[in-house]
Amino acid sequence: MGKKNQTIKDFGEQWLRYTDSEGFFGSMELFSDMIYPFLNPSDIKECKVAEIGSGAGRIVNMLLEAGAKQVIAIEPSEAFEVLRRNILEPEKVTCLKITGDQLPAYGELDYVFSIGVLHHILDPAPVVDAAFKALRPGGHLLVWLYGREGNNLYLTLINPLRILTKHLPHFILAPLVEIMYWPLVLYIKFCHRLSLPLRGYMLSILEKMSPKKRRLIIYDQLKPSYAKYYTKREAEKLLIDGKFDNVRIHHRHGYSWTVIGTKP
Ligand SMILES: C[S@@+](CC[C@H](N)C(=O)[O-])C[C@H]1O[C@@H](n2cnc3c(N)ncnc32)[C@H](O)[C@@H]1O
Repeated sequence: MGKKNQTIKDFGEQWLRYTDSEGFFGSMELFSDMIYPFLNPSDIKECKVAEIGSGAGRIVNMLLEAGAKQVIAIEPSEAFEVLRRNILEPEKVTCLKITGDQLPAYGELDYVFSIGVLHHILDPAPVVDAAFKALRPGGHLLVWLYGREGNNLYLTLINPLRILTKHLPHFILAPLVEIMYWPLVLYIKFCHRLSLPLRGYMLSILEKMSPKKRRLIIYDQLKPSYAKYYTKREAEKLLIDGKFDNVRIHHRHGYSWTVIGTKP
């Protein structure tokens, strides 16, 4: 199986096991943080939007809570059924079991979002191109990507580990996640007192997650067969090469990139 299909298969299995979006993980507080400083949830009110790579549907529900008029939710994996089940206002949502590059060229959407997805796609350019064609002139694409800058120490530790863990079946990976969970809890506590790497992320995001969702996040780091950590230049270039104008970038909590561009 190619890397593309393997990634989709792995995520399908992940979301079939971690189906809910409890607490901070599925909250508007987190959504505001993800789209900051470029958008407020109120900007989405009455808009037609799409989300590429919807997983179990937490972002779709955040978009609905923000007041979106219509949402197109794209999810290619077996998690599609979980997504459909989890959607709070199904009458406003069209779910499509396709990959991002197959997003129909509606030409009338106000926003396309892709949160934590493009860094798992080997060649994201066709997905960015599809988003461009789906937007109306003046519409925006907002993506969130793992960052290289700010993650150097983390990547030194996790990359060698991932060579092994990405091949592990769930029944071995789940106990490994359990073993890593407790040092992580301790690390978060130390972050309150010391200026440790990833402190911003630990205190603003991970500490607010429920224990179950912290475990999911560890799992999500160990399992995907492909994960790219973007430099600032690479992240900007993704949208600039996709013909977007006014491309702006934010170093979110010092470990990731929020990038937004406008269709001319
Ligand atoms: C880390 S999850 C993010 C889910 C969701 N956006 C969220 O933040 O909760 C990545 C999702 O992207 C999906 N995905 C993987 N390859 C894709 C592709 N080529 N096109 C669209 N979605 C894809 C996966 O199946 C998975 O559900």
